[in-house]
Amino acid sequence: MDWRERCRFRDMTNSDIIDIIAITKENMSEIIRYTWGALRDQNYEECFIKNLISVGTVKTIYSNSFIIGYFWFNEINNEERLFINSIRIKFDYQRRGIGTQAMKRLEHEALAHGIRHLRLSVQVINLKAIEFYRSSGFQEVFQEGGATHMHKEIFQGP
Ligand SMILES: CC(C)(COP(=O)(O)OP(=O)(O)OC[C@H]1O[C@@H](n2cnc3c(N)ncnc32)[C@H](O)[C@@H]1OP(=O)(O)O)[C@@H](O)C(=O)NCCC(=O)NCCS
Repeated sequence: MDWRERCRFRDMTNSDIIDIIAITKENMSEIIRYTWGALRDQNYEECFIKNLISVGTVKTIYSNSFIIGYFWFNEINNEERLFINSIRIKFDYQRRGIGTQAMKRLEHEALAHGIRHLRLSVQVINLKAIEFYRSSGFQEVFQEGGATHMHKEIFQGP
């Protein structure tokens, strides 16, 4: 059984937050340092946790009993769109198809809520993530403030 088959998804609980912060720091520290500079301090972490708990939906990705990643999204009210805040996979588990599985799960959730448009923004310097989103079928719409905005229209399968 490969990693794609082994990974599972569930709603985030408060006890997952420590792991989520660790994953975020591990794989985003370079980007955060480059983009937000001084914001990468205690206030940033507090603000991140507050948003994590209060904004949208966070699903953890786990294998056996440990967390290997998460994704975070929110519906844009009355616009039939879903905005992807982030998808993050633990460094040692990247490039094994798990991000792609998470994206499929997210699309499934969106369609179940009648949503056909996915949106996200990603830092222009995060070339690996942009490649990942392109490979998942997203297209660049426009660039603004150091971020690339991307879009994908999804359809119900046969
Ligand atoms: C971006 C990310 C979510 C991708 O998850 P993943 O599980 O590694 O991605 P997958 O294994 O499903 O990759 C699918 C395809 O995306 C592209 N891709 C993924 N990682 C890539 C990389 N580092 N460089 C170039 N292309 C990449 C490839 O086309 C890949 O297919 P292939 O492996 O057959 O060539 C993961 O690398 C990550 O967590 N990165 C750090 C956090 C981040 O930047 N998140 C996005 C912004 S919030």
